[in-house]
Amino acid sequence: MTVLVTGGTGYIGSHTCVVLLENGYDVIVADDLSNSSEEALRRVERITGKTLTFYKADVCDRAALDRIFEANKIDCVIHFAGFKAVGESTQKPLEYYDNNLASTISLAKVMSEHGCKRMIFSSSATVYDGRNVPSPFSETDRTGNCTNPYGWTKFMNEQILRDWAASDPGVSVVNLRYFNPIGAHPSGLIGEDPSGIPNNLMPYISQVAVGRRDHLNIFGNDYDTPDGTGVRDYIHVMDLAEGHLKAVEYAVSHTGEEVFNLGTGTGYSVMDIVKAFEKASGIRIPYVIAERRPGDLAELYSDPVKSKKILGWEAVRGLEEMCRDTWNWQKNNPNGYEG
Ligand code: UFG
Repeated sequence: MTVLVTGGTGYIGSHTCVVLLENGYDVIVADDLSNSSEEALRRVERITGKTLTFYKADVCDRAALDRIFEANKIDCVIHFAGFKAVGESTQKPLEYYDNNLASTISLAKVMSEHGCKRMIFSSSATVYDGRNVPSPFSETDRTGNCTNPYGWTKFMNEQILRDWAASDPGVSVVNLRYFNPIGAHPSGLIGEDPSGIPNNLMPYISQVAVGRRDHLNIFGNDYDTPDGTGVRDYIHVMDLAEGHLKAVEYAVSHTGEEVFNLGTGTGYSVMDIVKAFEKASGIRIPYVIAERRPGDLAELYSDPVKSKKILGWEAVRGLEEMCRDTWNWQKNNPNGYEG
């Protein structure tokens, strides 16, 4: 079985490549390296002792995709590639819609032309109508009413792929709705390496720990949550990667479109994460309480029952492991892949 992984040099993509290679899959990565480093793939090969094939290609480039499908027999595609910064998407909505929708459409068209009809898509918990639906979110809960263009691109891509699956009985689409991935491979060789100032909590904390940032800003401590800070469903990136393996197996044995949450079902607050990280690293994380961040919800966590029942997958790694592995990656790679 050969799996094409778009965006395979990125954070979730690289961890998924490890799991695929370790489970006997041949892996082809297509990535334009616009927000990532090819070094991640060398590390994936080091971890697994296996090789993969890399194409430096933009997934919007149909001719480039065509060449990849001409040269390889691809059984399934996992589509990670896309712009992902929530705040930036409100500044550059047209770029986000153009890139994130055009890439999915190009990919599905080229796949159809080559008779490859299985796609796993990187969606997000952000598609849930979190302003009107309370946590935990289950797959049947209402979606839409997204708070930013990034979220809408996930919502729209799910719909595009759902319509593709409805139009052709041979198509299999799995839309995976991720909650908040953190952690790293336990080797410390691969992990999250955001460019610029991290938008997300965990990379920000770990950069404070290695001295790249002065202090953490906690965005609000007056939410209606146990300690007033925002609550999220943090999931170890290796659990998330293993969820993709199960999704590939599911796509091989089913047709049609299916949606699955990938979360733990447990919510932790910002303060819980700070404390757990301090314990795992032995380093104090200075913080200040700042204004709420626009668009943030008080709490957001998953109902993971469907994934367990139908995919046969559940998250097994706890918060301690998530913090330990994040720290192991960050302390060994204080400047990410570049240093
Ligand atoms: N937070 C801080 N300080 C920071 C960064 C974050 O206090 O410097 C807080 C946020 O307010 C929130 C929590 O930490 O309460 C988590 O924030 P993240 O930015 O790490 O994650 P979000 O839940 O906001 O966003 C994530 C993904 C998005 C996805 C969204 C919805 O990054 O891609 O979940 O599921 F759209």
